[in-house]
Amino acid sequence: MIRRRRNTISRRLAMLQLASAGAVLSAPACSRLVGRTPRLRDDPFTLGVASGYPRPDSVVLWTRLLPRSDEPRGGWPAHVVPVEWEVAADEGFREIIRRGRAVAKADLAYSVHVEPVGLKPGRPYWYRFIAGGVRSPSGRTATAPSADVLPPRLRVAVASCQHYEQGLYVAYRHLVADAPDLVVHVGDYIYETGSAECYWTDSWNGYPAARQRLLDVLRQGVANPVVLSGDIHAFVVAELDAVAGDRGSGILASEFVTTSISSRGLPQTMVDAWLKENSNVRLARPDLRGYLRLDLEPGSLRTDLIAMNSVSDPAAGCRVLASYVVESGRAGPMCA
Ligand SMILES: [Fe+2]
Repeated sequence: MIRRRRNTISRRLAMLQLASAGAVLSAPACSRLVGRTPRLRDDPFTLGVASGYPRPDSVVLWTRLLPRSDEPRGGWPAHVVPVEWEVAADEGFREIIRRGRAVAKADLAYSVHVEPVGLKPGRPYWYRFIAGGVRSPSGRTATAPSADVLPPRLRVAVASCQHYEQGLYVAYRHLVADAPDLVVHVGDYIYETGSAECYWTDSWNGYPAARQRLLDVLRQGVANPVVLSGDIHAFVVAELDAVAGDRGSGILASEFVTTSISSRGLPQTMVDAWLKENSNVRLARPDLRGYLRLDLEPGSLRTDLIAMNSVSDPAAGCRVLASYVVESGRAGPMCA
């Protein structure tokens, strides 16, 4: 889904919830024409397909039809476009287990949001759309496990902030290779305007009362919380004190902030100067691009900070910058 800046704060904070775990991976492939007389000259699936919000019996499937980005209504001749969708149990779509029809409307920019139900928990599915005689790329998704099942491990990838003019999205190739069960996106999916004019005023520092209310809720209702966040274009690992800024109040939670996929960060020297007054911050690296890889197992959470070697080389490799463990019953990140 396309995110814009200045959305709600909820997108910046993602709490791990085992009950809602599942995969949100799509595997684009070349779209191809269906039938002998396609009604469109252009592929309407230029923006690809996506899925998310996995539940044990359902996922959300999404696409947006845009045959021609430089024409009124994206090149569609009509205000309402019928769209078919299919969910299959296999990658080759030999066993289609759900299908249906939806409509893409001009007043929703021809976006399509479908929620097939009756799926089986904890397994992969493949899905695609058909519009204007053209079949979309197929995507791979997965349902969440049953609420009464505790998987031996949940792997979560955390990503944020991609800006094509500032770097290639090579991190996603490594992220997909890690085969996460769930991808959590906590910052700008795509920039549609310039960069970060509200950069620091929309961080926690700009809302001390709201920050303390959240910390109070965590203290009262969550055992050993872990906060995942992003959108500051830097890796940050921190101990969150029960009272923000009061180091004597005790460590309440761990915070892992993912750096951006490609958006530039602040100068390292500037951040290093701030660190002298923030002893709860264990690491801060605005100079690197990448993502977080979390492995949650009964008893512990391991977090690897995956840093790209480059975002100008599409074949760039990556490295583990640092690894931390949060153990059950002990708040705060420890070096792994
Ligand atoms: Fe951002």
